[in-house]
Order: sequence, then structure tokens, then C-alpha cells
Amino acid sequence: MKIFGIETSCDETAAAVVEDGVKVLSNVIASSVDMHQATGGVVPEVAAREHLRQISPVIDKALADAGLEWKDIDAIAITTNPGLIASLLVGINTAQTIAYIHQKPLMEVDHIVGHVYANFLERKHPPQFPLLVLTVSGGHNELMLMKGHHQFERLGETLDDAAGEAFDKVARLLGLGYPGGPAVSKMAEKGNPTRFSFPRPMLDKENKYNFSFSGLKSAVRREVENLKKTDDQTIADLCASFQQAVIGTLIDKLVLAVQEHEVKEVHLAGGVSANQLLRKMAREKLPDKLPVYWPVEQIFCTDNAAMIAAATHFQS
Ligand code: KG4
Ligand code: ZN
Repeated sequence: MKIFGIETSCDETAAAVVEDGVKVLSNVIASSVDMHQATGGVVPEVAAREHLRQISPVIDKALADAGLEWKDIDAIAITTNPGLIASLLVGINTAQTIAYIHQKPLMEVDHIVGHVYANFLERKHPPQFPLLVLTVSGGHNELMLMKGHHQFERLGETLDDAAGEAFDKVARLLGLGYPGGPAVSKMAEKGNPTRFSFPRPMLDKENKYNFSFSGLKSAVRREVENLKKTDDQTIADLCASFQQAVIGTLIDKLVLAVQEHEVKEVHLAGGVSANQLLRKMAREKLPDKLPVYWPVEQIFCTDNAAMIAAATHFQS
């Protein structure tokens, strides 16, 4: 079964063809990320207009790269939520039109569920359920038990900023550009993660699986305001200490969830799953015999349409 996926929930205009939920036949992404550099974050109006400009060429290329025609496609998959409404509408209207013209079933999927299925792309072995999945992005941050395909029990979520959003805001504060995650983690390589002590919130019993990163972001701001000078080494140390606090919090929750639930695998998904410290600490802190997965390609971590096509394949 070949599914054509479309994803336009934020600033990536993406289309892809995926066979049988795992084999990526094409994966095209046009990002308007450069246009958001100056503002240090996505401007919804700008993102939506870029989707309008990019959607047709991206779709044509995805079909051509797969070496297919519309008659070879079994269904159209589209992200419907969550996301920026004007951006989502560009994808939804386009998907509806293609499905109508070519008489294909239209399948809707949640963006976060899409991120979960990014982990199954190009995987040789099927997932072993139940598994624990941490989805960490700019717009969402969730810890879920996955008991079977499309069977989720949410253990926790962010009560304010998502981890990726915190990276983006700290990067803006430090003048490191957008998106913040890659920029902050690059600076952190040269920094001392113990120089600044930042809070690791939401550890009380009631919120044991929830996340809150807005206090951490404010703590970084206060530290910056108190500093007399911010040279390169200080910025690197701030980045390293901040990254250690965010990733340490994510890992603490993962470890607790693994202790309290019997799972066969742990999955990291979403933009922040590209973070090397997160991957390293997950491997180090979780039991040796527990397999830990993250997307096989970096491009599957951040927003893409292959994950959307994959997710719909496993919808019954
Ligand atoms: O999944 P995604 O493309 O978009 C949303 O659904 O939000 O994730 C984008 C987020 C951004 O906040 C970006 O700063 C973060 O993922 N990110 C990272 C890294 N690469 C991307 N955060 C930390 N470390 C990274 N290496
Ligand atoms: Zn996303």
C-alpha cells in the first residue's frame, strides 16, 4: 500500500510517499525556517504564505521522486491538528482537492502521532508493544505509553513551554538565531554544564510525569541580566548548563516511567530527539537490556510528511 502524505502544520511544507508504513519512496521538505531567523520564531502569516507558494512544487516533486503517478497511490494522508491554523488549512485544502480529483480515500492524522510513527520509518523490525514514547518538539512535549498501533495512554505533558520551545526562547535571548535547539546544543559543546545551576521543575508526586520549562527559561534570563559581561565562553556555559537541565529533566521522567511500567522499548521522537545529549543520556540511564530508538535519519526527527503517511498506514 502506497500512501501520499502531506504536512503543513508549522513552517515546513512537506510531501512524501511511504510504502507499507515503513519504506520511504520519497520525502520532500521545503522549510521557511530562514525567513523566521530575524524574528527568532515562526511568524504564522509568513509561514502560511510560504506554504501557499511551496505546496504545489513540493507535491509534484514527491510524486516524481517516488517514480509514481496518482493512479499508483492508494490514499492521501494529511495532518489536521495541532498546528498553526492558517498553515494547516493550506495542507488540508490541498489534500481534499487531490483526494477528490483522483478519487482517493483521505486519511487524517494528528501531528504528534505522526512524530511517533517517524520512529518506525525504515526500521527493519516491527515495534514491540507496550513501548514508552517521549515526543519532544517546539510545540509539544508528551510522555505516552503505546500499547499497540494508535493505542496511547498519555502519562504526562508540558504544562507550559515544550522543551524545543525552551531551546528556541533561550537561543533568542542569547542571540543565537532560530531554530534554537541545534544552535544551543552546538554552543554547549564548548561549555561547562556545571557552571550555572538551573531549576529542574515539576518533580512533585502529582506532576511526576508532567513537564514545565518556562521557569527554566526565566532563570536563564535572570542569569543573563545579572552577568556583567557575556563573552563567548559565558554563552557556551549558559547553553551547556541550560541543556543539561532540560535534558536531565526529560531523562528523569523517562527513567521513572520505565521503573513504574513494564515496557519493551523506549522511543524518542520529535525535533528535540535530534539532540545528542538526550540520546546519550537515554542510553546511559535506562537499563542496558531495554532498546532505545530514535528516528533512523535526522530528517525524520523534525517535521516531515513521511511520518504522516506512515501513521495512517497503521490506522485500522
Ligand atoms: O518536531 P519539530 O520539527 O516541530 C514541532 O512540531 O514543533 O521540532 C522543532 C523543535 C524546535 O524547537 C527546535 O529548536 C528543536 O525541535 N530541535 C532541537 C534540536 N534540533 C531541533 N532541540 C534540541 N536539540 C537539537 N539538536
Ligand atoms: Zn512536529
